[in-house]
Amino acid sequence: MSKIDEKAQAVSEDSANGADDGAGGPIILFFIAGLVVSLIIGWVIFPKVLYSQKRQPIDFNHALHVGEVEDGCNSCHYFREDGSFSGIPKLASCVECHEDVLGESEEEAKFVAEYVAKEREVPWLVYSKQPPCVYFSHAAHVLMAKNDCVTCHGHIGESENSPIYEENRITGYSRNIWGYNMAGIKKNSWDRMKMDDCAECHAETKFDSGVEGGMSTEISRHFDEIAATAFPGTTHKGKGTSVQTERGACFVCHK
Ligand code: HEC
Ligand code: HEC
Ligand code: HEC
Ligand code: HEC
Ligand code: HEC
Repeated sequence: MSKIDEKAQAVSEDSANGADDGAGGPIILFFIAGLVVSLIIGWVIFPKVLYSQKRQPIDFNHALHVGEVEDGCNSCHYFREDGSFSGIPKLASCVECHEDVLGESEEEAKFVAEYVAKEREVPWLVYSKQPPCVYFSHAAHVLMAKNDCVTCHGHIGESENSPIYEENRITGYSRNIWGYNMAGIKKNSWDRMKMDDCAECHAETKFDSGVEGGMSTEISRHFDEIAATAFPGTTHKGKGTSVQTERGACFVCHK
């Protein structure tokens, strides 16, 4: 081995042993400072920039009203005879009681003056609103699958104030869809309602393809194949699936 080779080897051993040349300390400090800055940007500044905060036109008190009506949630959120879901009640169901101002509250006075007296519908913001390409039926989930409202919506039905509505400036949808946790950690079933969250429950409940109005297994297998070719890894045949339903096909939930 030549002298130069020996020296080169000695140097490389030195660095392999992590010999301190005096630059390690500042480098680590810079690294930590950079990490802290990016964490602040990612967790504090980014959400503030991405979401704008809106209030409901009228602050609605669920806790108070559930005690005033006769049939709980069903008094306002009910299924029509054709199985469709009424959603947020129309002004007509409020006017039964709020024809005139009942109490002292400013919120009620505003509601009666601006909406009841003018016969204008309240433009409520819908926290759970999905993109128009998504098909969702309450009848399938509440009447057939017997899911509780809380499973998907959390405790809005027991709240005293309407939660603040946070609108994603890019998609225009509510933050309830993507969830409030920036790291995507989900503790409760209602923390978010993205495509994967729908699919997760469908996979768990062994969502059955033979249901009425559903697709025949043969057609659904056909869709599986198309999906597997067009979007590799997205159907139940792939590993680490993202839209794992028994049927696999996209057109279960998409129009
Ligand atoms: C007196 C009528 C009334 C009753 C009774 C009532 N609600 Fe509501 N609900 C409303 C109105 C009005 C809104 C829209 C305002 C808001 O979101 O705060 C609403 C909104 C909601 C939403 C928000 C949906 C979304 O994604 O934006 C949920 C969830 C909900 N109600 C669940 C319930 C549950 C559960 C019960 C029974 C425990 C219940 N409600 C009882 C009138 C009612
Ligand atoms: C069964 C009767 C009934 C119905 C139906 C009803 N309310 Fe009320 N509402 C009340 C009563 C009672 C109060 C309490 C009034 C008071 O003493 O301040 C109230 C209070 C309110 C207040 C003031 C709440 C507060 O916390 O200060 C608002 C706003 C309001 N209602 C909106 C609505 C809207 C919107 C609807 C329709 C979705 C509706 N109400 C349907 C009975 C009703
Ligand atoms: C399996 C999940 C799930 C369950 C269970 C569920 N919901 Fe929903 N709810 C949704 C989704 C998703 C939407 C948005 C649908 C859309 O935008 O097409 C929604 C929308 C709503 C809306 C707003 C509808 C509108 O006017 O646009 C109300 C009100 C509501 N749900 C109330 C309830 C109540 C009350 C119950 C219990 C009886 C309930 N939901 C059970 C998932 C669920
Ligand atoms: C908590 C569990 C759960 C969640 C969350 C859930 N689902 Fe479901 N879903 C079910 C079950 C169980 C059925 C089968 C119901 C039946 O017996 O028809 C079903 C059925 C369906 C169907 C078929 C209904 C029909 O008319 O044939 C569609 C479409 C659907 N879900 C879409 C969605 C979408 C979109 C979401 C997310 C926004 C979602 N689901 C979230 C449990 C869930
Ligand atoms: C279990 C129901 C379900 C199935 C099955 C499903 N999706 Fe979705 N998809 C959703 C929901 C809910 C959303 C809206 C929420 C979100 O963006 O995650 C969505 C959003 C999307 C979007 C974004 C659309 C937009 O306007 O933001 C695309 C693209 C999409 N899905 C493609 C697919 C494809 C491709 C498949 C088949 C491999 C598929 N989906 C299967 C429920 C489903």
